[in-house]
Amino acid sequence: MASDHLHAPRERLRKETIHMHQAITSLMEELEAVDWYQQRADDCDDPTLKAILLHNMREEIEHAAMTLEWIRRASPDFNKELKEYLFQDGDIVGREHETEGK
Ligand SMILES: [Fe+2]
Repeated sequence: MASDHLHAPRERLRKETIHMHQAITSLMEELEAVDWYQQRADDCDDPTLKAILLHNMREEIEHAAMTLEWIRRASPDFNKELKEYLFQDGDIVGREHETEGK
């Protein structure tokens, strides 16, 4: 991976930080691809191509989910927040108030 996206000298970063950088960058790219495929599918008048674009979009969502799971396993902080906010019903912002009140 090119080091021009790092914000500190590579030799001063821990191996775990480099790995997390790789995962976060990958997640950003997957989510960007989801957005692009969705927009192209919306704009596409050919039903067969539209179906392919939506199929590709779903593949990118799968990739994003796999990468997010790696991040969760690698980071106790992500693990804590994702456990707190994902797959919950009710008001999302209200959840923060609930947890702070604990
Ligand atoms: Fe992907």
